[in-house]
Amino acid sequence: MRLDNKLFKGKTLAILSGGGDTPAINSSIESVRNRASMLGFKVYGVRKGWKGLLGEGDIVDLTHQPYDGWYGGTALGSSRTNPFPSKKNPESRVPQVLQNLKRYKIDVLVTIGGDDTNGAAKRLYETEGIPVIGFPKTIDNDLRTRTMHSYQGEETEAVLCPGFPSAAKAIAEFTGNLKTTAESHQRIIVLEVMGRDAGWLTGTAMYGGAQLGLIPEVPMSRERKELFFELVKETYLSHPKKCLIIPVSEGVRWFDEAKDKLDVVYASSEVDEYGHPRFGGISGVIASEISRRTGIEARAQISGYYARAGACRKYDRRLTMTLADKVVDLLLREEYGQMPVLSKIVDYVELEEFNTSSIDMGDIGNKPLPDLYYDAERFRFTPAYDHFLNMVLQRPRYTDFNYDFPVVIPQ
Ligand code: F6P
Repeated sequence: MRLDNKLFKGKTLAILSGGGDTPAINSSIESVRNRASMLGFKVYGVRKGWKGLLGEGDIVDLTHQPYDGWYGGTALGSSRTNPFPSKKNPESRVPQVLQNLKRYKIDVLVTIGGDDTNGAAKRLYETEGIPVIGFPKTIDNDLRTRTMHSYQGEETEAVLCPGFPSAAKAIAEFTGNLKTTAESHQRIIVLEVMGRDAGWLTGTAMYGGAQLGLIPEVPMSRERKELFFELVKETYLSHPKKCLIIPVSEGVRWFDEAKDKLDVVYASSEVDEYGHPRFGGISGVIASEISRRTGIEARAQISGYYARAGACRKYDRRLTMTLADKVVDLLLREEYGQMPVLSKIVDYVELEEFNTSSIDMGDIGNKPLPDLYYDAERFRFTPAYDHFLNMVLQRPRYTDFNYDFPVVIPQ
């Protein structure tokens, strides 16, 4: 294509990433940058999310720069800055954002984020008419994408956000590796997994051999705890190696006898600019209660940032490229206030633009794990969720050492 034939020559598109990082953000940035610059846009990067559009602005030129989309995290940096007034920051910073969009002559803004970042983008589009395109991102996988999953002839509304496939693989592998230490000590390991409001990521531990699990969607009342302890004991005792890994979401609501109420465990009471406190520590509470109630040794392990750290995995790489292809379509049609999504759950080779669509950013919001994926009576993830994961992940291969040595009796 000759330079002067470029469609959007003289226009500028800026990309920002906000909220928690994921291994797929650089891949999203690179994929959008490559396609937008081919269309003729000058492509800028806004540093540290919405923060980079405050004050003097913090903008870099990405148009012709080398970029490594396999490298995890975000080279633009991130923040939980909210341009709209919040409890933590009552003053509106929207005028600063508008001023910088004007000063840097930004024509289109692509916001890579979850509910918070894209929620703010949506408001800017609706209230100020800023041309925005949202780009989904979260390891928690709880941002509504209206992605349909077909299982045994039934259609379920699922979610698939870039970042989740890489994090899912990390959690599945982590769980599979924890198995050898649990086996060696015949212990129960309670594995805490990120997920404030939804158990999508926690469920991926079943790929690593976890049997039972707890998710934020199902509160652990006094009665449910009784049932759970019984099942834990039964499952542990029936395990040939007498061990068990129990993944639990950081946002699980657990009945606290001392306080006589259901509560989450907070790592800090401080809230961010979107009103979220930080969770952390539920695994320790559950492990010590399991030990006390069942008499079986239980330990806690927090997987924390491990889930979202490190390189982009293959599925995410292609997913971000495919969604960036849809961004091109939106740009060409000048359809703003939209977010590209996968229209159905497909395996790696079917990640193609014809399997994408876009949703109105007015419809974004949180989407919990569907009931079909979790059996609340048995505290187990279901075959339907296993089917979903089979499309997105490659089941890691673990070697199993099934020892059964003959016991020596002294003569
Ligand atoms: O938003 C995604 C997430 O991974 C949540 O599950 C978690 O509570 C949060 O990020 C923590 O992120 P940070 O410690 O960076 O604020």
